[in-house]
Amino acid sequence: MTAAPIRSVDKSGVEITSVGFNRFGFDSQVPIDVLRSLYLRPHYAARIGDSTSETLLKEDGQVEDHAVFNQGNTAYQSKSIFYPETNSISYTTLSRFTPVKLLPPSQRKRILVTGGAGFVGSHLVDRLMLLGHEVTVLDNFFTGSKTTVSHWIGHPNFEMVRHDVVEPFMIECDQIYHLACPASPPHYQFNAVKTIKTSFMGTLNMLGLAKRTKARFLISSTSEVYGDPEVHPQHEEYWGHVNPIGPRACYDEGKRVAETLTYGFQRQDGVDVRVARIFNTYGPRMNPYDGRVVSNFIVQALKGEDMTVYGDGKQTRSFQYIHDLIDGLIALMNSDETRPVNIGNGDEFTIGEFAELVREIVEKVQDEDGDKRIRRVNIIHKAIPTDDPQMRRPDTTRAKESLQWQPRWTVRMGLEEMVRYYKAKMAEGNL
Ligand SMILES: NC(=O)c1ccc[n+]([C@@H]2O[C@H](COP(=O)([O-])OP(=O)(O)OC[C@H]3O[C@@H](n4cnc5c(N)ncnc54)[C@H](O)[C@@H]3O)[C@@H](O)[C@H]2O)c1
Repeated sequence: MTAAPIRSVDKSGVEITSVGFNRFGFDSQVPIDVLRSLYLRPHYAARIGDSTSETLLKEDGQVEDHAVFNQGNTAYQSKSIFYPETNSISYTTLSRFTPVKLLPPSQRKRILVTGGAGFVGSHLVDRLMLLGHEVTVLDNFFTGSKTTVSHWIGHPNFEMVRHDVVEPFMIECDQIYHLACPASPPHYQFNAVKTIKTSFMGTLNMLGLAKRTKARFLISSTSEVYGDPEVHPQHEEYWGHVNPIGPRACYDEGKRVAETLTYGFQRQDGVDVRVARIFNTYGPRMNPYDGRVVSNFIVQALKGEDMTVYGDGKQTRSFQYIHDLIDGLIALMNSDETRPVNIGNGDEFTIGEFAELVREIVEKVQDEDGDKRIRRVNIIHKAIPTDDPQMRRPDTTRAKESLQWQPRWTVRMGLEEMVRYYKAKMAEGNL
């Protein structure tokens, strides 16, 4: 195994050392190595070369006296350590957590993330936790898993609640990121009626909570509200072209009505709302068996199986890396933009081209890690599913103007991280 720490460069060739930005009075910046250490195996994540990690590596007794606060009598009592150089704090219960920023109470927000144990939710939780906020995750674990956020369980700033958003829920909070909803076709079609209930009743309950607590509410809507679009690229003023009775309708129409509800609460009750229309997003922690094209291709290529392209492979898709999405969601939440905002990456690929790119990157990572390949995988074609949109590409002008947000990650850079994450899952026997 000769794996070296990964280095990523952005679209303009500049090395990515951190994600996030300080905008709209909210600082969302986090070093990329710290984030990576939460989802990649240690040999890929560069050693965090600041004084915080140096201190962490020392035994407790060696940490400067003023920095250590023991509650009660040693051994298994909880402990917190403050690092003045980086203004961060680490808590220890039975294990020690990655240090999070120490925010004054006036800046520390109480943030509810529904669906926080899912793919997008867990990355949002990582970011908000590292930034020093108090995070509560609400999830019924239908498609999510405790393992995605297990590295925070027990942290004093973190709470995990098993709850179905279809039922009412009460909590005091300042911001609600409402993400709970299965997002991949096999999952949302598994129980179409439940998907609509989650979209409608779940959103109704969370909007009711926002109304009672005066919390700001952000819903993760989707590019699926545009259906099989007749307008390219899709801008937010486009009303969409959705089949209301097709197999995808439970999700597409569910999200459309969720947006309707959101703006209903804004008009009638003055709820402070944000609507993010998310386009295809990929990254570590995506469920490998959720039938989405990125995970399908990587898993097939890593296992040495042929890669399946549905249809002739000429349909196009754009793919956004998870850290760009999280930057966009946080910027939107903290901005004054109340209209729907597309958040996606406009770099368009045909599915055929994309399959070839994934194959090339899997081979590159395998070569770098000194892995033996059984054979070169082939790309094969199968019949296209019903209502599969032929083209989808975001017009992100609004995000650029209102949020000063633009995607930074190239598809290649994101794929390299994701392939390494899936490789580790495979090594653990999880793929
Ligand atoms: N990933 C994408 O490309 C993408 C694109 C557009 C929109 N979105 C939206 O982003 C959100 C998150 O998507 P994801 O990719 O992380 O999906 P995911 O399936 O990984 O996460 C969804 C989470 O919601 C939870 N959940 C589902 N139903 C619930 C219920 N009734 N009560 C409580 N929790 C429930 C699941 O257990 C899971 O943890 C979804 O709202 C999805 O529609 C995602």
